[in-house]
Amino acid sequence: MNININGKDVTVNASDDTPLLWVLRDELGMTGTKFGCGAALCGACTVLSNGTPIRACITPASALVGQKITTIEGAASRETLAVKQAWAELDVVQCGYCQPGQVMAATALLQSNPKPTDQDIDNAMSGNICRCGTYPRIRAAIHAAANTL
Ligand code: FES
Ligand code: FES
Repeated sequence: MNININGKDVTVNASDDTPLLWVLRDELGMTGTKFGCGAALCGACTVLSNGTPIRACITPASALVGQKITTIEGAASRETLAVKQAWAELDVVQCGYCQPGQVMAATALLQSNPKPTDQDIDNAMSGNICRCGTYPRIRAAIHAAANTL
């Protein structure tokens, strides 16, 4: 099957029910998207499908034919760039494991809502778990990124 990933059509050999996360990491060697729970509970595997955050660990690759997938490797919208800059300025990252998913979720939020409230941020980011507890810095960085858009 062919899947559009980061603007390129990629031919994938995986079977139809193989989750996108395995295609990305094992077949394509794109390890920026992380495996956490494997059960849609932690958000470590968040990528965007036509701009909407999805959980790559439970989404069959075949369901994504015809969609535009964006992973952390190819995320370069102005919202992503603002997020990355704010992340660096506010020193958001601790161990880093959850952060590709956090950046993708924050990107999707700012693309749909450029001036989110605390509540908007909490709602949008609630599915992305951070064992290091970086939530206050994530929230502050999303506000900082929003202020630059
Ligand atoms: S690895 Fe996909 S949500 Fe946890
Ligand atoms: S920075 Fe360590 S899990 Fe989030």
